[in-house]
Amino acid sequence: MKKKKNNASLRPFSGPLLDGPHRAAARSMLYPVGFTEEDFKKPLIGIASTWSNVTPCNIHIDKLALEAEKGANANGGKAIVFNTITVSDGISNGNEAMKYSLVSREVIADSIETVVGCAGMDGFVAVGGCDKNMPGAMICIARMNRAAVFVYGGTILPGCLTAATAPANSPNIGKDLDIVSVFEAVGQHAAGKISDEELHAVESCAIPGPGSCGGMYTANTMASAIEALGMSLPNSSAQNAISPAKMDDCRRAGAAVVEMLRQGIRPRDILTKKAFENAITVVIALGGSTNAVLHLLAIASAAEVKLTIDDFTRIGKRVPVLADLKPSGKYSMSALVAIGGIRPLMKILLDKKLLHGDALTCTGETLAETLRNVKPYPTGQQIIRAFDNPIKKDSHLVIFYGNLAPGGAVGKITGKEGSRFEGKAIVFEGEEKALKAILDGTVKAGHVIIIRSEGPKGGPGMREMLAPTSAIMGKGLGKDVELLTDGRFSGGSHGFVVGHVTPESYVGGPIALVKNGDKIIFDSEKRTLTLDVSKTELAKRKKACKKPAPRYPRGVLAKFAAHVTSASEGAVTDKDLEL
Ligand code: FES
Repeated sequence: MKKKKNNASLRPFSGPLLDGPHRAAARSMLYPVGFTEEDFKKPLIGIASTWSNVTPCNIHIDKLALEAEKGANANGGKAIVFNTITVSDGISNGNEAMKYSLVSREVIADSIETVVGCAGMDGFVAVGGCDKNMPGAMICIARMNRAAVFVYGGTILPGCLTAATAPANSPNIGKDLDIVSVFEAVGQHAAGKISDEELHAVESCAIPGPGSCGGMYTANTMASAIEALGMSLPNSSAQNAISPAKMDDCRRAGAAVVEMLRQGIRPRDILTKKAFENAITVVIALGGSTNAVLHLLAIASAAEVKLTIDDFTRIGKRVPVLADLKPSGKYSMSALVAIGGIRPLMKILLDKKLLHGDALTCTGETLAETLRNVKPYPTGQQIIRAFDNPIKKDSHLVIFYGNLAPGGAVGKITGKEGSRFEGKAIVFEGEEKALKAILDGTVKAGHVIIIRSEGPKGGPGMREMLAPTSAIMGKGLGKDVELLTDGRFSGGSHGFVVGHVTPESYVGGPIALVKNGDKIIFDSEKRTLTLDVSKTELAKRKKACKKPAPRYPRGVLAKFAAHVTSASEGAVTDKDLEL
């Protein structure tokens, strides 16, 4: 724990902006928004809210932000609440609209930075509850390095079809439903396995209220990763969206930022290489989303910590997957909340020396100190396996290399579908054409589906292939086809899937050279991705390959495409800028 600071130094940014006769005009703007004379002596704390009724993930965030405001004010700060944007992958996936998704991560980071910087905030709480606003907030926290705590909006409860609401003989009565259930129902419907009535019943019951998508998809993965990084309060990642625990978490987060200022703790004291290794370890043990690779690389880049895709391989060799959570597993996040969340799992990992206990957290305590009183999971629970009886003995997040991905690629390999696949390429320029071919039966067992022109620059925006992977599952082809893309995957995707293929096709990566019928070999034991075509033939194809025109010459998608790095570097937009 660092030495406490005196009062004047608690206002490193608001002081120069608001103190002294020459800053009277600035102060005069703040009386109407609720400031008193006394407030100008307090540290100014921003509360960045991602509230919106664009999506259920964030529809309750306004209330959470107000609780964080109360916590900051009660602990001697003066809080100001402001909004940033959010979008919803659950709505946009499978459509051109999805190209804005990853872009929104950068817009959110930039917009929080803009307000915190311009308003002279000494610290801030960022409250997020959807896939991109969480890493977006964390990129800003790492970039600005002002006292900050992240609050997760909390998980949604599962949806449920009852005998009263479901069609007769519905296979879904009593099952936990969520957004991925709907995507997979679309595939089942296309395969003629379920009726129009059944699809409609699933669609209308799967999302019962506020909160983030309910499996170990990207939002819950990132919430867990951020807690393991030490940037949210203990247990923040495993609370239901609508719960007294979540309201309390917000108040305590507001208070904690003021305390960070007093102790002189800044995010980069917390966001060390050890912290990122802890986050990777927890993500693997939970069976988390491939998006964690992209987002942790991006947050590390903002924190100026050297993290590479190879760190995932190194750590992945010794960390097992222990959680039986959706999408590959059985249980929802709210079931994990009910048995104690991720803290007992972190204690297990710490006891096995897989976590760095000396990593600092935003509480001012080390990770080990925050875990000292954590009780084990209740006896008989089925969600988190014993360490010696894992779901998979090493990481499900596999980094592939090979002549098809010399810059790397990321797969989510649970082992359920096997570890090796050899098949014939069937190539699609973009997601929509691939989805149509899966649904109409053009894609058959033995195919390696290549979806290209979906990379960070070429898409642009690296769309998630949730609709195609769900359609594959719905069609019953999960073990019989493989999907490779320079796009990425939703946390809800599962099956034989490898994304982030780098270099992407738009910049002339080998994925651009694949032709229908080429043999492709995927080996998760060796972590290789091989295009079985001779070097001479590939050189010939390369010569004939022309760079496509940019899809968006103006606007935010064009700005993103112009600046974005490769997926293997986190697809960030503020690195190595030519100034
Ligand atoms: Fe917001 Fe899934 S769409 S968490």
